[in-house]
Parts: sequence; C-alpha cells; structure tokens
Amino acid sequence: MSAETATTAGGGGGKVLELPPGIAVKDVKAAYGRIEVLHGVDLVVPPGSVFALLGPNGAGKSTLLKVISGRMRPTSGEVLIGDRPVGKAPPEKLARNGLCAIPEGRGIFPNLTVRENLRIWTYRGGIGTKEVEDRTFETFPRLKDRRRQMAGTLSGGEQQMLAISRALVTEPKVLLLDELSMGLAPLVVGELYELVATLAGQGMTILLVEQFVTTALSVAGRAAIMVHGRIEQQGTPEEMAEAALGVYLA
Ligand SMILES: Nc1ncnc2c1ncn2[C@@H]1O[C@H](COP(=O)(O)OP(=O)(O)OP(=O)(O)O)[C@@H](O)[C@H]1O
Ligand SMILES: [Mg+2]
Repeated sequence: MSAETATTAGGGGGKVLELPPGIAVKDVKAAYGRIEVLHGVDLVVPPGSVFALLGPNGAGKSTLLKVISGRMRPTSGEVLIGDRPVGKAPPEKLARNGLCAIPEGRGIFPNLTVRENLRIWTYRGGIGTKEVEDRTFETFPRLKDRRRQMAGTLSGGEQQMLAISRALVTEPKVLLLDELSMGLAPLVVGELYELVATLAGQGMTILLVEQFVTTALSVAGRAAIMVHGRIEQQGTPEEMAEAALGVYLA
C-alpha cells in the first residue's frame, strides 16, 4: 500500500461531518451450551474511535465480537450500536445499518473467485462492480492478478486482503475486526493496519481484536484487556501495553 493513503488518514480530509455510531456493551453474559464464557462484560467504544481488545487465547474476545455483530445472542445484558439494541435485529439488518464484521479466519467465500467475492459485497450498496474492483485493486494490486482465482486457494495474506476489502467497498460505519494479523508476516500485518488507520481517518468506529499488541495499540485510541470472560483493565494504549506484558507473562 502506498504512503499517501496513510497520510490521508491523519488529515481526515474534511469528509467527516457526521460521527458514526458508537458501541456500548452492557453487562453481557454469553454461553456455549451451559458453559458461560462471558461473565458480565461492559465496554464503551466512542463514536469514530479505534478500540483495541487484547487478551490471551480463549479469553472470550471472538465471542464478544459475535455478540456485538448479532451472530450470537447473549444470555443476559445488551449491546447498543448508536441507540439501537443489537439483540432485536437480524445480522442482515445490522449490515444495512452500517455494521461490518470481519471474523477470525477471514470470512470470505473460498469457493468463489476473487471477483465473485467482491461482487457479492456490492449487492446491497449503491456501488457498482467496476468501482468496487477499481478501489480494491488500487489498494491491493496482488488481488488484481488473481481476480479469477478461487479465494480459498489464495495465500493467507491475500485472503486477509480480500477480507478487509469488504470494509473498503461497503464503507461501513462500524467495523469489527477479529485478528486481522492471523498467520501473516509482520510486513503484511503492517500494511493491513495502515489501511485500518486510513479507514479510521474516514470516520468509522472500529473495534479490533489482535494478538500483535504493538500493532493494535499503534492505531488504537483506547484499549482493554480481557481475561477469562471479563474486561480486566482498560485505558490508553500506553497503559495497556504495560498491562498486556503482565497479563501475557502470567
Ligand atoms: N462454538 C463454540 N462452542 C463451544 N465453546 C466455544 C465455541 N467457541 C468458543 N468456545 C469457547 O469459548 C471460550 C472463548 O473463546 P473465544 O473464541 O471467544 O476466545 P478468544 O479470546 O477469541 O481466543 P483466541 O485469542 O484464541 O481467538 C473458549 O474457552 C472456547 O473454547
Ligand atoms: Mg478469537
């Protein structure tokens, strides 16, 4: 990705007139069968900010993102996107209202080609196929060369590029990212996070889960650490960098 995109992020471009909705998680409990994995989570992501959710494996981070995106019902508590409760709307409706969740493990259709994947995301927007392809291939030229390839046969990094293209073309107001870096070389991770910074600069509310603490904290305005289904600490990226060390060492 080019350096220009990153610079535009800082500038904001004057495009942001209206703030996107924020996210409020209120005392959320969630379980798989009888096993409770979220034990009362409270979290506020202010409109237009980037929030990093850190924590060890199995802490419940992906589960929380599933609850926020409406793919899993909490056993109690509630989630608000702006002033709308998530629990009452089906995921398609949430998407129409500007929520985009890119799940762990990429969330692309492996048996469709790159182009077909891109085409699917244009269905509900007022954006044409050509523009979608232009935008995506400008950001990720590698995908252009592979546009006729089955998405499932792309390399890990290429699949992740395709996955995040969805946020690029559908222009969501609220973006949930689960371990964008999974299985990727640090250089690619850096490029993808440059793009996250650009998207943030365009005025999106972003909640990201990430194992690469330093990378996540470099784009986030605030962060929290989740341990055993609870938010253990939250604060500034500097504070959380310090705290994460303790948590991961323990
Ligand atoms: N579909 C499922 N059925 C049963 N248990 C599950 C399911 N998904 C997750 N869990 C369990 O819930 C707990 C929280 O898992 P979750 O995936 O939310 O953790 P995480 O913080 O995202 O971890 P990681 O960093 O490894 O991705 C774990 O103990 C996990 O084994
Ligand atoms: Mg996870």
